[in-house]
Amino acid sequence: MQRLFTGLQPSGTLHIGNYFGALKQTAELLKNSDGLVMIADYHALTTLKEPAQLRENIAGVVRDYVAVGVDPKKSIIFQQSSNPAHTELAWIFDCLVTVPFLMQAHAYKDKVAKGLEANAGLFTYPMLMAADILLYDTDIVPVGADQKQHVEYAREAAMKFNAAFGETFKEPKEKILDSVAVVPGTDGKKMSKSYGNTIPLFGTKDEIQKAVMSIVTDSKAESPENVYNIHKLFRSGESLAALYKENKGKYKALKDALIEDIETLVGPMRERRASVTDADVKRILEDGGERARERAEKKMADVRAKVGVTL
Ligand code: ADP
Ligand code: TRP
Repeated sequence: MQRLFTGLQPSGTLHIGNYFGALKQTAELLKNSDGLVMIADYHALTTLKEPAQLRENIAGVVRDYVAVGVDPKKSIIFQQSSNPAHTELAWIFDCLVTVPFLMQAHAYKDKVAKGLEANAGLFTYPMLMAADILLYDTDIVPVGADQKQHVEYAREAAMKFNAAFGETFKEPKEKILDSVAVVPGTDGKKMSKSYGNTIPLFGTKDEIQKAVMSIVTDSKAESPENVYNIHKLFRSGESLAALYKENKGKYKALKDALIEDIETLVGPMRERRASVTDADVKRILEDGGERARERAEKKMADVRAKVGVTL
Protein backbone atom coordinates (compact mmCIF):
# COMPACT_ATOMS: atom_id res chain seq x y z
CA MET A 1 0.00 0.00 0.00
CA GLN A 2 1.31 3.45 -0.85
CA ARG A 3 2.43 5.62 2.05
CA LEU A 4 0.73 9.01 2.00
CA PHE A 5 1.78 12.03 4.03
CA THR A 6 0.18 15.44 4.11
CA GLY A 7 0.15 18.45 6.39
CA LEU A 8 -1.95 21.48 7.07
CA GLN A 9 -1.03 24.61 8.99
CA PRO A 10 -3.45 25.35 11.81
CA SER A 11 -3.96 28.89 10.64
CA GLY A 12 -7.66 29.54 10.23
CA THR A 13 -11.13 28.39 9.29
CA LEU A 14 -11.82 26.43 6.13
CA HIS A 15 -13.91 27.56 3.18
CA ILE A 16 -15.56 25.52 0.45
CA GLY A 17 -12.56 26.23 -1.85
CA ASN A 18 -10.33 24.35 0.60
CA TYR A 19 -12.82 21.48 0.66
CA PHE A 20 -13.17 20.99 -3.10
CA GLY A 21 -9.56 21.95 -3.79
CA ALA A 22 -7.86 19.77 -1.21
CA LEU A 23 -9.65 18.11 1.70
CA LYS A 24 -12.17 16.10 -0.27
CA GLN A 25 -9.50 14.43 -2.40
CA THR A 26 -7.19 13.89 0.54
CA ALA A 27 -9.96 12.12 2.45
CA GLU A 28 -10.62 9.92 -0.59
CA LEU A 29 -6.94 9.08 -1.12
CA LEU A 30 -6.59 8.16 2.55
CA LYS A 31 -9.17 5.40 2.17
CA ASN A 32 -6.69 3.34 0.15
CA SER A 33 -3.39 4.46 1.65
CA ASP A 34 -1.26 4.02 4.69
CA GLY A 35 -1.69 7.65 5.65
CA LEU A 36 -0.35 10.25 8.03
CA VAL A 37 -2.00 13.63 8.40
CA MET A 38 0.07 16.18 10.27
CA ILE A 39 -0.97 19.44 11.87
CA ALA A 40 1.99 21.69 11.14
CA ASP A 41 1.96 23.65 14.38
CA TYR A 42 5.67 24.50 14.35
CA HIS A 43 5.33 25.75 10.80
CA ALA A 44 2.43 27.93 11.93
CA LEU A 45 4.68 29.42 14.60
CA THR A 46 6.64 31.16 11.82
CA THR A 47 3.69 33.54 11.51
CA LEU A 48 1.31 33.01 14.44
CA LYS A 49 2.29 34.36 17.84
CA GLU A 50 -0.98 33.97 19.73
CA PRO A 51 -0.91 30.87 21.96
CA ALA A 52 -4.65 30.78 22.62
CA GLN A 53 -5.38 31.12 18.92
CA LEU A 54 -2.86 28.43 17.98
CA ARG A 55 -4.32 26.03 20.53
CA GLU A 56 -7.83 26.59 19.25
CA ASN A 57 -6.75 26.19 15.62
CA ILE A 58 -4.97 22.88 16.32
CA ALA A 59 -8.11 21.36 17.81
CA GLY A 60 -10.08 22.87 14.93
CA VAL A 61 -7.98 21.06 12.32
CA VAL A 62 -8.54 17.71 14.07
CA ARG A 63 -12.28 18.34 13.97
CA ASP A 64 -12.11 19.43 10.32
CA TYR A 65 -10.38 16.23 9.25
CA VAL A 66 -12.79 14.01 11.14
CA ALA A 67 -15.71 15.98 9.72
CA VAL A 68 -14.62 15.48 6.10
CA GLY A 69 -14.29 11.75 6.63
CA VAL A 70 -10.74 10.98 7.78
CA ASP A 71 -10.82 8.01 10.14
CA PRO A 72 -8.39 8.60 13.04
CA LYS A 73 -8.25 4.86 13.75
CA LYS A 74 -7.01 4.07 10.27
CA SER A 75 -4.94 7.17 9.45
CA ILE A 76 -2.53 8.79 11.88
CA ILE A 77 -3.62 12.32 12.77
CA PHE A 78 -0.91 14.01 14.81
CA GLN A 79 0.79 17.26 15.79
CA GLN A 80 4.22 18.03 14.40
CA SER A 81 5.33 19.24 17.83
CA SER A 82 4.44 15.90 19.42
CA ASN A 83 7.27 14.19 17.57
CA PRO A 84 10.64 15.88 18.28
CA ALA A 85 12.21 13.85 15.46
CA HIS A 86 10.85 16.45 13.01
CA THR A 87 12.85 19.38 14.40
CA GLU A 88 15.85 17.13 15.03
CA LEU A 89 15.99 15.92 11.43
CA ALA A 90 15.31 19.44 10.14
CA TRP A 91 18.50 20.58 11.90
CA ILE A 92 20.51 17.84 10.22
CA PHE A 93 19.13 18.92 6.83
CA ASP A 94 19.90 22.57 7.64
CA CYS A 95 23.52 21.52 8.01
CA LEU A 96 23.51 19.93 4.55
CA VAL A 97 21.98 22.68 2.43
CA THR A 98 23.38 26.09 1.55
CA VAL A 99 21.98 29.55 2.20
CA PRO A 100 21.63 30.40 -1.54
CA PHE A 101 19.65 27.17 -2.03
CA LEU A 102 17.14 28.15 0.67
CA MET A 103 16.98 31.68 -0.70
CA GLN A 104 15.27 30.31 -3.82
CA ALA A 105 12.18 29.22 -1.85
CA HIS A 106 9.02 31.05 -2.97
CA ALA A 107 7.58 31.53 0.52
CA TYR A 108 10.73 33.29 1.65
CA LYS A 109 11.28 35.22 -1.59
CA ASP A 110 7.69 36.51 -1.64
CA LYS A 111 7.94 37.80 1.90
CA VAL A 112 11.20 39.59 1.21
CA ALA A 113 9.82 41.01 -2.07
CA LYS A 114 6.92 42.50 -0.10
CA GLY A 115 9.43 44.21 2.15
CA LEU A 116 8.41 42.08 5.15
CA GLU A 117 10.85 40.80 7.69
CA ALA A 118 11.39 37.05 7.47
CA ASN A 119 12.32 35.18 10.62
CA ALA A 120 14.92 32.40 10.51
CA GLY A 121 12.12 29.85 10.92
CA LEU A 122 10.52 30.99 7.70
CA PHE A 123 13.90 30.79 5.99
CA THR A 124 14.47 27.16 6.98
CA TYR A 125 10.77 26.23 6.60
CA PRO A 126 11.46 23.92 3.62
CA MET A 127 13.88 21.76 5.63
CA LEU A 128 11.36 21.23 8.43
CA MET A 129 8.84 20.23 5.78
CA ALA A 130 11.42 17.91 4.19
CA ALA A 131 11.90 16.26 7.58
CA ASP A 132 8.12 15.87 8.00
CA ILE A 133 7.85 13.99 4.73
CA LEU A 134 11.08 11.98 4.70
CA LEU A 135 10.88 10.60 8.23
CA TYR A 136 8.11 8.22 7.22
CA ASP A 137 9.37 6.83 3.87
CA THR A 138 6.56 8.68 2.14
CA ASP A 139 5.57 7.80 -1.43
CA ILE A 140 3.06 10.53 -2.17
CA VAL A 141 2.32 13.99 -0.78
CA PRO A 142 -1.08 15.39 -1.76
CA VAL A 143 -0.87 19.18 -1.72
CA GLY A 144 -2.09 22.27 -3.52
CA ALA A 145 -0.02 23.58 -6.43
CA ASP A 146 1.52 26.24 -4.17
CA GLN A 147 3.35 23.51 -2.23
CA LYS A 148 4.98 21.81 -5.22
CA GLN A 149 8.31 23.54 -4.69
CA HIS A 150 8.41 22.42 -1.07
CA VAL A 151 8.14 18.77 -2.11
CA GLU A 152 10.99 19.37 -4.58
CA TYR A 153 13.04 20.67 -1.66
CA ALA A 154 12.25 17.47 0.21
CA ARG A 155 13.55 15.39 -2.69
CA GLU A 156 16.71 17.53 -2.78
CA ALA A 157 17.22 17.03 0.94
CA ALA A 158 16.84 13.26 0.50
CA MET A 159 19.37 13.23 -2.35
CA LYS A 160 21.87 15.35 -0.46
CA PHE A 161 21.65 13.18 2.64
CA ASN A 162 21.88 9.95 0.65
CA ALA A 163 24.90 11.24 -1.27
CA ALA A 164 26.68 12.30 1.92
CA PHE A 165 25.86 9.40 4.24
CA GLY A 166 24.51 6.53 2.13
CA GLU A 167 21.07 5.47 0.94
CA THR A 168 18.60 6.36 3.73
CA PHE A 169 15.65 8.35 2.44
CA LYS A 170 13.07 7.57 -0.20
CA GLU A 171 12.36 10.37 -2.70
CA PRO A 172 8.70 11.38 -2.39
CA LYS A 173 6.39 12.56 -5.18
CA GLU A 174 3.88 15.36 -4.90
CA LYS A 175 0.32 14.65 -5.92
CA ILE A 176 -1.04 17.99 -7.03
CA LEU A 177 -4.70 18.03 -6.23
CA ASP A 178 -6.44 19.14 -9.37
CA SER A 179 -8.69 21.49 -7.51
CA VAL A 180 -11.93 21.22 -9.54
CA ALA A 181 -10.08 24.00 -11.35
CA VAL A 182 -10.16 26.98 -9.03
CA VAL A 183 -13.22 27.40 -6.84
CA PRO A 184 -14.48 30.97 -7.34
CA GLY A 185 -15.51 33.17 -4.43
CA THR A 186 -18.54 35.41 -3.95
CA ASP A 187 -16.96 38.06 -6.21
CA GLY A 188 -16.07 35.59 -8.97
CA LYS A 189 -12.32 35.72 -8.21
CA LYS A 190 -10.47 32.76 -6.64
CA MET A 191 -11.99 31.99 -3.26
CA SER A 192 -9.38 32.82 -0.64
CA LYS A 193 -9.36 33.83 2.99
CA SER A 194 -7.13 36.74 2.07
CA TYR A 195 -9.73 38.18 -0.34
CA GLY A 196 -12.69 38.09 2.07
CA ASN A 197 -14.83 36.38 -0.58
CA THR A 198 -15.32 32.99 1.06
CA ILE A 199 -18.24 30.74 1.84
CA PRO A 200 -17.31 29.06 5.14
CA LEU A 201 -17.32 25.27 5.01
CA PHE A 202 -18.55 24.71 8.54
CA GLY A 203 -20.40 27.98 9.07
CA THR A 204 -23.88 28.02 10.52
CA LYS A 205 -26.75 27.94 8.07
CA ASP A 206 -27.14 31.70 8.63
CA GLU A 207 -23.50 32.38 7.81
CA ILE A 208 -23.72 30.30 4.65
CA GLN A 209 -26.93 32.07 3.66
CA LYS A 210 -25.35 35.46 4.17
CA ALA A 211 -22.32 34.51 2.07
CA VAL A 212 -24.46 33.11 -0.77
CA MET A 213 -26.70 36.17 -0.79
CA SER A 214 -23.58 38.33 -1.18
CA ILE A 215 -22.53 36.57 -4.41
CA VAL A 216 -22.15 39.29 -7.00
CA THR A 217 -24.59 38.97 -9.91
CA ASP A 218 -24.84 40.82 -13.18
CA SER A 219 -28.32 42.28 -13.41
CA LYS A 220 -28.35 42.12 -17.22
CA ALA A 221 -27.50 38.44 -17.59
CA GLU A 222 -30.08 35.64 -17.80
CA SER A 223 -28.11 33.31 -15.64
CA PRO A 224 -26.07 34.46 -12.64
CA GLU A 225 -22.65 33.20 -13.67
CA ASN A 226 -20.98 33.51 -10.28
CA VAL A 227 -23.80 31.57 -8.60
CA TYR A 228 -23.72 28.90 -11.30
CA ASN A 229 -19.96 28.39 -11.07
CA ILE A 230 -20.20 27.63 -7.37
CA HIS A 231 -23.41 25.65 -7.77
CA LYS A 232 -21.85 23.21 -10.22
CA LEU A 233 -19.67 21.84 -7.43
CA PHE A 234 -22.76 20.73 -5.55
CA ARG A 235 -25.06 19.50 -8.31
CA SER A 236 -24.30 17.65 -11.51
CA GLY A 237 -24.85 18.61 -15.15
CA GLU A 238 -28.41 17.74 -16.14
CA SER A 239 -30.24 18.62 -12.98
CA LEU A 240 -28.24 21.83 -12.70
CA ALA A 241 -29.04 22.82 -16.29
CA ALA A 242 -32.74 22.12 -15.71
CA LEU A 243 -32.78 24.19 -12.54
CA TYR A 244 -31.17 27.19 -14.24
CA LYS A 245 -33.46 26.90 -17.26
CA GLU A 246 -36.53 26.78 -15.08
CA ASN A 247 -35.43 29.80 -13.06
CA LYS A 248 -34.13 32.05 -15.79
CA GLY A 249 -33.58 35.54 -14.38
CA LYS A 250 -34.77 34.50 -10.89
CA TYR A 251 -31.60 35.13 -8.97
CA LYS A 252 -33.14 34.87 -5.52
CA ALA A 253 -34.65 31.44 -6.26
CA LEU A 254 -31.33 30.18 -7.62
CA LYS A 255 -29.43 31.44 -4.60
CA ASP A 256 -31.98 29.75 -2.33
CA ALA A 257 -31.48 26.51 -4.22
CA LEU A 258 -27.72 26.83 -3.83
CA ILE A 259 -28.09 27.36 -0.08
CA GLU A 260 -30.17 24.18 0.13
CA ASP A 261 -27.63 22.20 -1.89
CA ILE A 262 -24.74 23.41 0.26
CA GLU A 263 -26.74 22.48 3.34
CA THR A 264 -27.35 18.95 2.03
CA LEU A 265 -23.62 18.33 1.73
CA VAL A 266 -22.36 20.34 4.67
CA GLY A 267 -25.14 19.64 7.20
CA PRO A 268 -24.03 16.07 8.04
CA MET A 269 -20.34 17.09 8.10
CA ARG A 270 -21.11 19.99 10.41
CA GLU A 271 -22.94 17.61 12.73
CA ARG A 272 -20.07 15.16 12.73
CA ARG A 273 -17.69 18.01 13.48
CA ALA A 274 -19.77 19.16 16.43
CA SER A 275 -19.87 15.63 17.84
CA VAL A 276 -16.08 15.56 18.29
CA THR A 277 -15.57 16.48 21.96
CA ASP A 278 -12.48 18.07 23.51
CA ALA A 279 -11.70 14.68 25.03
CA ASP A 280 -11.90 13.05 21.57
CA VAL A 281 -9.47 15.64 20.18
CA LYS A 282 -7.04 14.96 23.01
CA ARG A 283 -7.29 11.21 22.57
CA ILE A 284 -6.85 11.37 18.78
CA LEU A 285 -3.73 13.55 19.13
CA GLU A 286 -2.19 11.45 21.92
CA ASP A 287 -2.75 8.25 20.02
CA GLY A 288 -1.58 9.79 16.73
CA GLY A 289 1.53 11.25 18.37
CA GLU A 290 2.46 7.91 19.84
CA ARG A 291 2.06 6.08 16.54
CA ALA A 292 4.02 8.78 14.66
CA ARG A 293 6.90 8.67 17.18
CA GLU A 294 7.02 4.90 17.02
CA ARG A 295 7.32 4.95 13.23
CA ALA A 296 9.96 7.69 13.14
CA GLU A 297 12.19 6.23 15.84
CA LYS A 298 13.84 3.53 13.70
CA LYS A 299 14.61 5.99 10.96
CA MET A 300 16.12 8.46 13.42
CA ALA A 301 18.30 5.78 15.02
CA ASP A 302 19.67 5.00 11.56
CA VAL A 303 20.17 8.71 10.79
CA ARG A 304 21.97 9.42 14.07
CA ALA A 305 24.28 6.47 13.53
CA LYS A 306 25.00 7.50 9.94
CA VAL A 307 25.89 11.12 10.76
CA GLY A 308 28.06 9.95 13.62
CA VAL A 309 26.46 11.29 16.77
CA THR A 310 26.02 7.87 18.36
CA LEU A 311 29.08 6.13 19.76
P1 ADP B 1 -6.40 30.46 1.11
O1 ADP B 1 -6.18 30.86 -0.34
O2 ADP B 1 -7.82 30.70 1.52
O3 ADP B 1 -5.39 31.06 2.04
P2 ADP B 1 -4.89 28.05 1.53
O4 ADP B 1 -3.74 28.61 0.78
O5 ADP B 1 -4.79 27.90 3.00
O6 ADP B 1 -6.21 28.90 1.16
O7 ADP B 1 -5.27 26.67 0.84
C1 ADP B 1 -5.29 25.41 1.47
C2 ADP B 1 -5.59 24.37 0.41
O8 ADP B 1 -6.86 24.61 -0.24
C3 ADP B 1 -4.57 24.35 -0.72
O9 ADP B 1 -4.28 23.00 -1.03
C4 ADP B 1 -5.23 25.04 -1.88
O10 ADP B 1 -4.80 24.52 -3.11
C5 ADP B 1 -6.71 24.76 -1.64
N1 ADP B 1 -7.52 25.92 -2.08
C6 ADP B 1 -7.59 27.13 -1.48
N2 ADP B 1 -8.43 27.97 -2.13
C7 ADP B 1 -8.90 27.28 -3.20
C8 ADP B 1 -9.79 27.59 -4.27
N3 ADP B 1 -10.40 28.78 -4.37
N4 ADP B 1 -10.03 26.63 -5.19
C9 ADP B 1 -9.44 25.43 -5.12
N5 ADP B 1 -8.60 25.06 -4.13
C10 ADP B 1 -8.30 25.96 -3.17
N1 TRP C 1 3.57 23.86 4.10
C1 TRP C 1 2.26 23.26 4.04
C2 TRP C 1 1.20 24.37 3.81
O1 TRP C 1 1.42 25.50 4.19
C3 TRP C 1 1.93 22.49 5.29
C4 TRP C 1 2.88 21.35 5.50
C5 TRP C 1 3.86 21.26 6.47
C6 TRP C 1 2.94 20.15 4.75
N2 TRP C 1 4.50 20.07 6.37
C7 TRP C 1 3.99 19.37 5.33
C8 TRP C 1 2.23 19.67 3.65
C9 TRP C 1 4.34 18.12 4.80
C10 TRP C 1 2.58 18.42 3.13
C11 TRP C 1 3.63 17.67 3.70
O2 TRP C 1 0.14 24.07 3.29
